[in-house]
Amino acid sequence: MSSHGAPIPMTSRKSDPLRGEARVPGDKSISHRSLILGALSVGETRINGLLEGQDVLDTGRAMRAFGAEVTDHGEGNWSVHGVGVGGFAEPDQVIDCGNSGTGVRLIMGAMATSPIAATFTGDASLNGRPMGRITDPLALFGAQSYGRSGGRLPLTILGTAEPVPVRYNVPMPSAQVKSAVLLAGLNAPGQTIVVEQEATRDHTERMLTGFGAVVDVEQTDEGRVITLTGQPELQAQDIVVPRDPSSAAFPVCAALIVEGSDVLVPGIGLNPTRAGLFATLREMGADLAYENERVEGGEPVADLRAKFSDLKGIEVPPACAASMIDEYPILSVVAAFAEGRTVMRGVKELRVKESDRIDAMARGLEACGVTIEEDEDTLIVHGMGAGGVPGGGTCATHLDHRIAMSFLCLGMATRKPVSIDDGGPIATSFPIFEDLMAGLGAQITRANR
Ligand code: S3P
Repeated sequence: MSSHGAPIPMTSRKSDPLRGEARVPGDKSISHRSLILGALSVGETRINGLLEGQDVLDTGRAMRAFGAEVTDHGEGNWSVHGVGVGGFAEPDQVIDCGNSGTGVRLIMGAMATSPIAATFTGDASLNGRPMGRITDPLALFGAQSYGRSGGRLPLTILGTAEPVPVRYNVPMPSAQVKSAVLLAGLNAPGQTIVVEQEATRDHTERMLTGFGAVVDVEQTDEGRVITLTGQPELQAQDIVVPRDPSSAAFPVCAALIVEGSDVLVPGIGLNPTRAGLFATLREMGADLAYENERVEGGEPVADLRAKFSDLKGIEVPPACAASMIDEYPILSVVAAFAEGRTVMRGVKELRVKESDRIDAMARGLEACGVTIEEDEDTLIVHGMGAGGVPGGGTCATHLDHRIAMSFLCLGMATRKPVSIDDGGPIATSFPIFEDLMAGLGAQITRANR
């Protein structure tokens, strides 16, 4: 089922060389944070290049429900008139975050240290995902939560009127958990400290600093220690959202596997906590060049050029996981066209994403003739070389946008077409995916067209 409406079955077919420029939308992580931090600041935050995917639109709607004024000025330009730290109003409706784990988890953090209640829900995918990882640390601040078994949504949080600052060791590599704790810490007096063993994406820390909070980051034997001084007055900002490297991954990887391709993806955010995929692809032998490297809005940015490449399978160690966690589905597609095995270890967090991504990729690749091995924390793809993947399967996407886009890219280079049961969720993060890929020469059709 699609997250909004009837399923949209889609098929992709072996494509002629992909060529041209792929202007992918704004970064999803930064877009959510722009709206939330804008809502928590004083004055008017202006955002240029906001991702207008369903996930982010749902966060915008939620910020209105908490009292911020969120305005769409067209063409990716938005403004948020904030209510200040501690200024959230109590929503009079259930907050529906759709498919978005980032949206719901960050918003739960942002409201938990105010004396208001809010009830959160989402689609079937989101309502199956673990929320105890958020409500556990929020309880340390004094917030109470009442959810379904396993801490799942729908879930109500009673924010606390008298928050205490917290020191929290994040038990799994998760930027969402880290960010929820930091956002909760904004309205607690004193210093909230978050420790992460492995560095995860650091947009929250960077953006909080940009909005005027005092955030100190230190690498110690314990891990990365982030100290936030509570109760700052956040000042509205002008934000330019870089294009999303996780979305860029699809045209880039499609170019690597479709013979004769040469694709330029301009203005991609290359924050080191997000760029793991591109380093991994280069290690596999990908012809991938960074052009015109620069800094925009405090984030490193470059134009990426990707050309069809002969690839070899490699070991992707657990240390890579955090910096490319959303890219394993498309990496496993690329791995199918490499010579030899690609072994992805330390990836068990993939099991609690929009779907169980290890299982979804394994079953779909097998349906297309690829040999897979897996265990709880590992995915191994036996590569069949350029042009060597049979295809011909229909892949279940489980309400997961990245699974849907990954299999459509697979079908661009397999011998037989590849179908997916539902492309609807692609709109959560990459609403222009179909048109953008078609513009490069990809052959994607909808069953009902
Ligand atoms: C995100 C963090 C990651 C990632 C998600 C976006 C964020 O989730 O998978 O797409 O913006 O903080 P986890 O925190 O669960 O690793």
